[in-house]
Amino acid sequence: MNPFLDSVLKTRRVRSPQGGERELGSEISLDEGYLLQEAIQLTQAVTTLEIGLWYGVSTLFICEAISGKPGAHHIVMDPNQFRDCDGIGLNNVKEAGYENIVEFYGQSSHIVLPQLELKGVKVDFAFVDASHLFDYTLLEFFYIDRILRTGGIIAFDDASMPGVQKVIRFIITNRCYKVVQCIPASASWKQMAKHRLLKEVSRICPPLKQLIRPELREPDIDRGFIPGARYVALRKEADDSEDTRPWHFYHDF
Ligand SMILES: C[S@@+](CC[C@H](N)C(=O)[O-])C[C@H]1O[C@@H](n2cnc3c(N)ncnc32)[C@H](O)[C@@H]1O
Repeated sequence: MNPFLDSVLKTRRVRSPQGGERELGSEISLDEGYLLQEAIQLTQAVTTLEIGLWYGVSTLFICEAISGKPGAHHIVMDPNQFRDCDGIGLNNVKEAGYENIVEFYGQSSHIVLPQLELKGVKVDFAFVDASHLFDYTLLEFFYIDRILRTGGIIAFDDASMPGVQKVIRFIITNRCYKVVQCIPASASWKQMAKHRLLKEVSRICPPLKQLIRPELREPDIDRGFIPGARYVALRKEADDSEDTRPWHFYHDF
């Protein structure tokens, strides 16, 4: 592991460029960091993108996985890096030795992502750990999909949060993406048994299907997405962003 990242995780202390010290918090877990790196290996990613820098723990895991590859480049955006974090995330990027491969934008995703598409940027891997709101997360997926190469991976932290979970359900039911990684958190076996039962009921008695919410009659588990998962990664199987879907295409999710 990068020695600076290792010391941050061990000491749980981070510093601003002015020397102010804070306790580490809100970062991804160690197992999630390793899964991000595994996803980057899987896709042989060189150009990566991330939404939500904070103190930069996930950024350091991602940079470690791509650094050393020719053309390695990590794009990260966060409008609150100086307002909330005193520049600690960017300082950590510098201390870890990744300053030369990181391109930072101090604006919100909805401003930055369309600019990247306009510039013709293409990415191999993207990680979303930002607002967790349904509308922002959906918009982030929409724009990332347009610049993510086919075969690339988009990963979501906090996949169990309702807004993020709904977006993931939209993606796997309406778009050409497949779950490739998942960290279960509070997988409730009782909840899964309930979903199985409702699915069976709607199979035996189709009219009842309309009365059961889509997430109950078609449980996430059937698509490799464990309820309560705290991290989910999806691989783009084909480019269906334009023209490939009829105008009335829609699957309930
Ligand atoms: C949970 S923290 C990210 C933690 C980081 N992944 C880590 O492991 O250290 C979420 C970050 O997302 C940022 N954020 C929230 N809304 C955003 C948006 N619309 N665009 C970009 N970043 C956003 C917040 O400012 C915050 O720094």
